[in-house]
Amino acid sequence: MIYIKSKIALGIESTAHTWSVGIIDFEGNVLSLVNNMYLPEKGGLHPAAVKEYHLNNFHKVIKKALHNANITLKEIDLIAFSKSPGLGPILKIGAHVARILSQLLKIPIVAVNHCIAHIEIGRLMCNIDDPLTLYVSGGNTIISAYESGRYQIFGETLDIPVGNLLDMFARDVGLAHPGGPKIEKLAQESNTYLSLPYVVKGMDLSFSGLYTATKRLIESSDYGKKFTLNDVAHSLQETSFAMLTEVTERAIAHTEKTEVLLTGGVAANKRLQEMVKSISEDHNAKFEVVPLKYAGDNGAMIGWTGILRYKAEGAHTISATQINPKERMDQISIPWRN
Ligand code: ATP
Ligand code: FE2
Repeated sequence: MIYIKSKIALGIESTAHTWSVGIIDFEGNVLSLVNNMYLPEKGGLHPAAVKEYHLNNFHKVIKKALHNANITLKEIDLIAFSKSPGLGPILKIGAHVARILSQLLKIPIVAVNHCIAHIEIGRLMCNIDDPLTLYVSGGNTIISAYESGRYQIFGETLDIPVGNLLDMFARDVGLAHPGGPKIEKLAQESNTYLSLPYVVKGMDLSFSGLYTATKRLIESSDYGKKFTLNDVAHSLQETSFAMLTEVTERAIAHTEKTEVLLTGGVAANKRLQEMVKSISEDHNAKFEVVPLKYAGDNGAMIGWTGILRYKAEGAHTISATQINPKERMDQISIPWRN
């Protein structure tokens, strides 16, 4: 039997704090994945500082990913990178590096929407076909499914993303970024629910009032007397996750999808998994959580989505690889799912 080596893509993720390189073959086997995350010493992300950090470190990440995959740069057949959505200065670094590599190596390039990549790597890793997806992270809160040639958005946040809500609250109580996992631990120690604003407007969600209300709780004179930080963390999770679950359930009922996919960094949360699993089962839908390595931002998802588009309609021209920080996933055609 002749062994024909599959083609290989190098995917670059560079939308926010994480510069990630994934090397993946055209059959969907991940050969390596290396992440390098910028962690601010305190406070939030300053795009200029993140940009400087990625600029100084990106080459080490590429080198390590090639080393781990046991290949050389010359063996790469396709370059894919995240062109949207994200922080402009950071997206630009990924785009520049990808364009340079594509031209130096004389190989095709594909620009990828980050949100679509989260769904595609989930379909690949969880071996499912047509899910209703709840994508929850520090930068996004989107309920989406494929319909009429696009990944349509059925619900989304009107203000802050749910991961950001958890991170902001954690920062207020002195916990370092990322706050989500720390809030989860705190919440596990309480069963006391404090009433908080639950804001679902149509199919969209608003978390800013909830954030302000939790902040007021920890500033109130009853804090530490009538209720604890654990109680506030528990109530924050219960309220925000119930909002997400309500909209997800309505989207399942509307789309009649029989698969539900939970992805993004907040997908790591066991309580959220439990709640979304429960409503999925109520609707006889198969529930899957993307393996954590691939649920957060990662270069493998960019490489894989690049491969899908490349197989369906070929590469982008260099001039079509401009970044688009505000691009919405429902504006993009999905030729590989026709
Ligand atoms: P995106 O660019 O897609 O918006 P991101 O930059 O926020 O993603 P991710 O790794 O997808 O990066 O998600 C990070 C978020 O996930 C942070 O807000 C973090 O607090 C949250 N998170 C991680 N683990 C947990 C957990 N166990 N419970 C709740 N939130 C979590
Ligand atoms: Fe992401």
